[in-house]
Amino acid sequence: MITLAIETSCDETSAAVLDDDKVKSNIISSQLFHSKYGGVVPEVASREHLNKIIEISEEALKRASVSLSSIELISATSEPGLIGALLVGLNFGKSLAMSLDIPFVPVNHIQAHLYSNFLGAQKAHFPFIGLIVSGGHTLLILVDDFFKHKILGSTIDDAAGEAFDKVAKLLGLGYPGGPLIDKHSMHGDKHFHKFPVANVKENEFDFSFSGIKTSVLYYLKKINFENHKDEKLINDISASFQQAMIQSLFDRTLAAAQQYEVRDISLSGGVSANKELQRRFNSLTEQGYNVYFPEPEYSTDNAAMIGLTGYYKFKNSKDKKKYFSETLKQNAKARLDYENF
Ligand code: KG4
Ligand code: ZN
Repeated sequence: MITLAIETSCDETSAAVLDDDKVKSNIISSQLFHSKYGGVVPEVASREHLNKIIEISEEALKRASVSLSSIELISATSEPGLIGALLVGLNFGKSLAMSLDIPFVPVNHIQAHLYSNFLGAQKAHFPFIGLIVSGGHTLLILVDDFFKHKILGSTIDDAAGEAFDKVAKLLGLGYPGGPLIDKHSMHGDKHFHKFPVANVKENEFDFSFSGIKTSVLYYLKKINFENHKDEKLINDISASFQQAMIQSLFDRTLAAAQQYEVRDISLSGGVSANKELQRRFNSLTEQGYNVYFPEPEYSTDNAAMIGLTGYYKFKNSKDKKKYFSETLKQNAKARLDYENF
């Protein structure tokens, strides 16, 4: 089954073509210009998606050597995300599905991150513990089967990626900050300073990252960072902050795997690309765990993971009719009748 998938939930315009669960193309256009504002500007993001969506989709079809008429399924991110940005991809996907008279599957972006590991050669076995660490979300999930999961914990304030981005800003690094902290940490001392990470009393699997950001801020003021900053200091603070973040993610994930007696652990989302985090989690293989990460191309936002999740959703659905454009058409007809009136 040939799928065209669309992702426009934040600052990546992406389109992918899949043949069942195999990726034939995955085109990602990142809106790098947001870095000059220190974060994503929603209105500008939506407008750029509008500029790019057709050309990126055409490119994905061309690279996959697939014609418009060969597409059998369309999926697009429907939630969560920036509403204006989401609407561009969602409406484009729905309209194209209607015009081609093929089914349309809306896809939850977080679920797509969760299944992004299944795009690789090594797939986690059910049940597994999923840790989703992105710019907007931090979730610890027990996954029993496709679309059968229980959320064990989540962040009560900032997401992990958000904490990386905010601390990078405090250190005067660019946006997105995660990859830059990752890079600086490679040359820094992770034991240089101990930044505390809060425990959440109500639920041992919840995360809280706003405190660590504040403690970095106070620490920078205390040492008069602005007047003393040099490459070594930036590297050491980056490595120490990163160490605290990884420790918090690692402890809860391992505790969840132990409590639910699960041997497979799957990490996904932008922060899962972090080199030290990968090294730390990979050390669990010595204790008999199987640890999975998405391929680098699939760790940050991409349409391939949307296409894969849409395909699984369609394949596993008992009521496939709900994805067919018939309902959409009826709605559109009602609207047209009204307009004609
Ligand atoms: O999954 P993603 O592309 O978008 C969301 O759905 O949010 O994640 C983006 C986040 C950003 O906060 C970025 O700083 C972080 O992932 N990130 C990293 C690394 N690469 C991306 N954080 C730490 N280390 C990295 N290597
Ligand atoms: Zn994402």
